[in-house]
Amino acid sequence: MSRLPHPIQYQGSKRNLASRILACFPADVQTLYEPFAGSAAISIAAAAEGAAKDFAINDLNQPLVRLLQGIVENPCVIAEEYAAVWSNQGDELAQSLSHFNAVRDAFNRTHAPELLLYLLARCVKGAVRYNRQGLFNQSPDKRRKGTRPETMRRNIYGVSLLLKGRSRFLSVDYLEAIQNATASDLVYMDPPYQGVSGERDGRYLSGLDFELFAKSLAQLNERDISYIVSYDGKLGDYSYGQILPDSLELERLELVVGRSSTATLLGRNDVTIESLYLSRALVARLSKSRHRLGAHKHTASLNLFSTSHDLETLEAVY
Ligand SMILES: C[S@@+](CC[C@H](N)C(=O)[O-])C[C@H]1O[C@@H](n2cnc3c(N)ncnc32)[C@H](O)[C@@H]1O
Repeated sequence: MSRLPHPIQYQGSKRNLASRILACFPADVQTLYEPFAGSAAISIAAAAEGAAKDFAINDLNQPLVRLLQGIVENPCVIAEEYAAVWSNQGDELAQSLSHFNAVRDAFNRTHAPELLLYLLARCVKGAVRYNRQGLFNQSPDKRRKGTRPETMRRNIYGVSLLLKGRSRFLSVDYLEAIQNATASDLVYMDPPYQGVSGERDGRYLSGLDFELFAKSLAQLNERDISYIVSYDGKLGDYSYGQILPDSLELERLELVVGRSSTATLLGRNDVTIESLYLSRALVARLSKSRHRLGAHKHTASLNLFSTSHDLETLEAVY
């Protein structure tokens, strides 16, 4: 997949896994639902590959959704506003740090989308962090100034070209966001990971109730909805995330993501592995189109699954 436009720096973005996730799409997706959209990396990739006709983009983070909507529907405005905020940071480090803090204060008062775009481009690891009062409190990255306005403008226009006129935007809980999905659609879910945010209560995934999530997947099964879930993962021998119940009859694929930076620093060979779960309706849909696989737009991406285990599992799925 050629380089795709990505205006929003977002920790946990699936942009690097997009082609492998798209390899699990059936050929005939009407609407791609992305209820935990974040930076909407999968919708962007699916639009670029012609892998869905339209898009339902949702995230509980309302300013983030307003930013995505602004990028898609009013690219010119967002690009201009970003350029103004970015340019005002000046060249001196001390000045740019106090500029970041002023923008952060302004964002916490106004929730203006272009301010969030700058904060994400400039903050540590593109990681959204809020304090208990709901105020954005992430620090600036002192080593970089954030994406230059010309590059940002290209990324913004690129995403707008891909998604304009065929995307709807929502900021509600994921359960509400997927309630109108039908059997000809596909739901891609990337909920916040258990363990990553330091959340210790096993029932909750950074605010997401595990039991309720599993129940909502069972309901999607009853409605015959095709879905893909990016969920637990492994780093070396360490697993994070609760295993989804067997009763859901999901097909689990493992994607080798690569060596983690921590492992590299420690001189270890641990690789990060992420799981993808495919719903039984999706597996049935994929095997029905088996005879059409030669013509399947994404067949080439199948060999991007990087372990023999992945390939064996995929062969079983197909
Ligand atoms: C792992 S991130 C998704 C990253 C995304 N796949 C990407 O490529 O950028 C999870 C997202 O779920 C959102 N979220 C958390 N709880 C939610 C809920 N109950 N309903 C909808 N979205 C939620 C968070 O705001 C966050 O953006």
